[in-house]
Amino acid sequence: MAETTYQGLIEDLEKYLEYQRDEGVQRLEVDRAVLEELAREPEPDVPETLVVEAVPIPDHFDSVEAIAAHVAGCTNCELCQSRTMTVPGEGKTDSPDILFVGEGPGAEEDAQGRPFVGKAGQLLSKMIDAMGYTREEVYIANVVKCRPPGNRKPVREEMDLCLPYLRRQIELIKPKVIVGLGGTAMEGLLGRPAGITRMRGVWQEYEGIKLMPTFHPSYLLRDPSKKKEAWADLKLVLGELGKVPPPRK
Ligand code: URA
Repeated sequence: MAETTYQGLIEDLEKYLEYQRDEGVQRLEVDRAVLEELAREPEPDVPETLVVEAVPIPDHFDSVEAIAAHVAGCTNCELCQSRTMTVPGEGKTDSPDILFVGEGPGAEEDAQGRPFVGKAGQLLSKMIDAMGYTREEVYIANVVKCRPPGNRKPVREEMDLCLPYLRRQIELIKPKVIVGLGGTAMEGLLGRPAGITRMRGVWQEYEGIKLMPTFHPSYLLRDPSKKKEAWADLKLVLGELGKVPPPRK
């Protein structure tokens, strides 16, 4: 059973702001209406607690399609209440060279039910292309399968409730290498908080699979000067796969 309280929302916002700070964001513009809304006490007739039905996740899905079908009806956490579509993941399911793991769907992904199809997704597609792959030749998934409202970082409980899906996806598709996009993806995969600035470019391991942390494409859109470092990380991934980047088009 997952619960959201007014206090919980404030705590989520705090975590989101801490995340932005950790990612190097130094200034945020906040609408006056948002500040007024935050200052407002909850209406007495608005229920303090939203309750969602937690359905156990079957341990042994035998295909990624079965996972996607289950995810489509998942009500394990409150994210189900605001989602339009679930975003289970897509790509090559038969031992792809690379699995890219992001944080969670944004607005465009929520509308289309596909991972990384918004602005950050366009940059990820370019990164994949620069590595000499197509999106169909890799697998792309997220730590949480439903959009966190306002693109906030998923909270720990949401990640914990959703991670069994990603873990089983990884068992089934058996990627050769995993690329963790940003601190939240790394936190989900490693099960502990991960400072991406310090960790990026340093090989980690997930259940015996080599795991390369790098910056999230959204962060690269905000700070393009970091693209050089991300590209260095992706070249390490190619090296691990015995490949070199194709000549630039
Ligand atoms: N950001 C993510 O982390 N995942 C997506 O699918 C889209 C944007």
